[in-house]
Amino acid sequence: MEFKFDVSDIFPSGIVELNQSLVPPGFAGDRRGLTNVVTKVANVIDQMGDASATAQGLTRPITTADRLRKSDQNIYLLVDSTAKNGKGVVTGMLKTGKKSLYIFDRDGQHYHVSPPCVLDFYIHESKQRQGLGKQLFEHMLQKEQVVPSKLAIDRPSDKLLSFMSKHYGLQNAMRQMNNYVVFDGFFPEPANPDVITESSSPGHTKEKANGLQSFTNYGRYGAPRPPCSMGQIIHNQSPMQSNEPSGPQIASQ
Ligand code: COA
Repeated sequence: MEFKFDVSDIFPSGIVELNQSLVPPGFAGDRRGLTNVVTKVANVIDQMGDASATAQGLTRPITTADRLRKSDQNIYLLVDSTAKNGKGVVTGMLKTGKKSLYIFDRDGQHYHVSPPCVLDFYIHESKQRQGLGKQLFEHMLQKEQVVPSKLAIDRPSDKLLSFMSKHYGLQNAMRQMNNYVVFDGFFPEPANPDVITESSSPGHTKEKANGLQSFTNYGRYGAPRPPCSMGQIIHNQSPMQSNEPSGPQIASQ
């Protein structure tokens, strides 16, 4: 994607990591320069977010600079600063972050988890199916020290499901009613019960070594909780944006 300003002025070539500060790595300059660069970075994020939403058929972008500022999420941008006669282009964007979720496994057991999540992913149409998505994804995996099966993915498109299958052999996605998807390796192996530390009181959670918490399924503690829509309205959040657990949801497969 091209911009009115020179992308190569604000980003080095390769993969650029951004957080809520919106300051590109390696930035050196005075206060005025900082304001200028942050404005441009915000513009890049907003345009990439819009393009991703359009590509996924969404009415509103999932990714905006404003949202990034208010979050602890990460954005990885794939930049080609030699393109466009050295002005540079941004070819891809991947956004990740931790979310508090209730996830069901195939046996109907639900877990309260805060896994790393793929929240948005986009490669420019002119560059898709050339391995750039994999390059960006691999960088993220390495940076966040996570294996693909431990990720939860927010509303994956068919293209992304195909991508996960092709590159990581992840198939038979478990779709949750909160629109996230996980794969089989997300849950601890049943043959490895040693990782479970049971809490002392009944009805409370069991915490596992990888941060998974499973709930004992009895009494009112085991009853499914619906998402708190009033809370979401008060906090101006859609259920997808909420960091609060959105209530256990039933996996469709
Ligand atoms: N149709 C079906 N599968 C596709 C696809 C398409 N148009 N484009 C990519 N894929 C999948 C396929 O498995 C493909 O392998 P194949 O070409 O052998 O069939 C694989 O991804 C290619 O891998 P790679 O080149 O590394 O991925 P990419 O650079 O195309 O990036 C996406 C993958 C999903 C990020 C990119 O296609 C994209 O931006 N799509 C539009 C936005 C989107 O759906 N984002 C996911 C949001 S949840």
